[in-house]
Order: sequence, then C-alpha cells, then structure tokens
Amino acid sequence: MTAIVSIHSYRGGTGKSNTTANLALLIAREGKRVAVLDTDLQSPGVHVVFGIDSKRITHTLTDFVLGKCAVEEAAYDMGEELDLGDGGGAVYLLPSSMRIESIMQIIDQGYDVGKLNAHFATLSDTLDLDLLLVDTHPGLNRETMLTTAISDVLVILIRPDSQDFHGTAVMVELAGRLHVPNVWMLANKVVKRLDPVDVRKKIKGAFGYDVVGVLPLDEDMASLGSRGLFAQKYPNHPITQELTSVAKRLAAITDEVGGDDGD
Ligand SMILES: Nc1ncnc2c1ncn2[C@@H]1O[C@H](COP(=O)(O)OP(=O)(O)O)[C@@H](O)[C@H]1O
Ligand SMILES: [Mg+2]
Repeated sequence: MTAIVSIHSYRGGTGKSNTTANLALLIAREGKRVAVLDTDLQSPGVHVVFGIDSKRITHTLTDFVLGKCAVEEAAYDMGEELDLGDGGGAVYLLPSSMRIESIMQIIDQGYDVGKLNAHFATLSDTLDLDLLLVDTHPGLNRETMLTTAISDVLVILIRPDSQDFHGTAVMVELAGRLHVPNVWMLANKVVKRLDPVDVRKKIKGAFGYDVVGVLPLDEDMASLGSRGLFAQKYPNHPITQELTSVAKRLAAITDEVGGDDGD
C-alpha cells in the first residue's frame, strides 16, 4: 500500500506548495518513491517550485480529471532536476494545467474527485510508489475534503494569525469527523520574535494534534520566491533541518502503511 499524505491549509499563501515540493525531495532522499499531485487545479503552482521545463509538460492532472489522458501520462520523473542519484528514491510530479480554458472548466464544473481518488492506486502501481503527496487548494471545499478522507496523514499548515487559527479550527474538526488516522500541524511563517516552543504549545493546546515543526518567516525563503527547492539551495538551513525531520517521519509512515512491502 502507498501512503497518501495531504498538505493543506485554511488560507492560501501559507506555504503548502513550497513545503510539499521540499518534503518530496527530502523523502526521496530517504530512499522513498514519491509522487506529488497538484490538486490545486484552480490555482496551480507547485510545478514552478520544481522548476520543471514547461516544454516537457504534454499532459496534466487537469487533463486526467477532464478525461483526456491516463493518470500516469501526467507524471514526470524529476530525478535529474533533483539530483537524486541512485539512492532508490524518486520524485514524480503531476502538475495541473495552466491553460485558461482548462482552469475555467474546472472552476465552472468542478471535477470528479472520486475518479482521481480511485486512480491513486493505478498511479502507485504503475510508478511503484511509497507515498503520494497531495498539494491541495486552500480552505474547505468538496474536492479537498474527499481526498482528505482517504489520506493516511493530513498535514495542516498554519500561520500564527488569528484568521488562520479560527479557520483551522473548523478544518481540524472536520479531519476528526473524517477519521484521518494522523493529523499533523506544521507552523509556518512564524516571526522570529515568537518563541517556537510557545508557538508549539499554543497550537497543540488549541487543536490537540501533534505539532511536527515550527518554521520561521524567513528572508532566504521569501527571496527565493518559489524559484526552486529551498532544501537544495540551502541544505544546512534550520528550515531544511526541520523539514528533514518531518520527511523522516513521513518516510517512517510509509513503512507502517506499506507493512507487507512490495505494492
Ligand atoms: N517560511 C517562509 N518564510 C518566508 N516566505 C515563505 C515561507 N514559506 C513560504 N513562503 C513564501 O510564501 C509564498 C506562498 O507560498 P506557497 O508555497 O505558494 O503557499 P501556498 O501553496 O500555501 O499558497 C511564496 O512566495 C513562498 O516563497
Ligand atoms: Mg499552492
């Protein structure tokens, strides 16, 4: 079995896409085979963080949900770009479409998330995956809810901001009702004057779930501006170290979920 991990936040701009892309790289460095799905079909972005050459992209996840291609046709091996070598790890990116017509169609009609969920298994069999990382559309919406419902881990990104806290409370309650086996909180963009230990306590106290990391609001991350993978550019940075610890926990989850090894 392949572990399904959704990365979500109540509000946009919290850092989902950058976190997802960096976690994919760091999990692959643990020797795991990972696919990243950009299910933010209305406002795609993770492909930019990966820096994939747009000329390579002939099929997208959007094409798949619109019935125009098979899911595996939308998967691009990022091994070379990420310099993964032969440690056994792999990252496949399933970008969504930047074509205005496709985005409008999705906004207008939604998409059949049941079909997407049903094809996770096909994708993981074809690519022999350990883990599916799902970069989501922010907030509460039907598609994200249904993907969350089949997730082994829901990582909720949160900023220390009152709007975030209130919205996240609703999402956390929903995750409880959906019986997601693991709900992890990850604080991002935490201003340096706040003590990370206090932030951790506050989030744990407010939501009751594990806080797996507290990431600072960081000048280097902001300057990078999604033009590449932070963990590649700053391998020894505290943010990379914190994300590495989350990646190791996720890699361990694949061993639990995988259990019997193989597929
Ligand atoms: N810890 C951080 N410190 C500073 N800027 C950050 C941090 N995390 C993310 N960002 C920036 O915030 C913006 C939004 O990030 P993104 O990953 O696209 O969020 P989302 O996918 O949740 O909308 C990007 O410009 C990114 O570089
Ligand atoms: Mg995003």
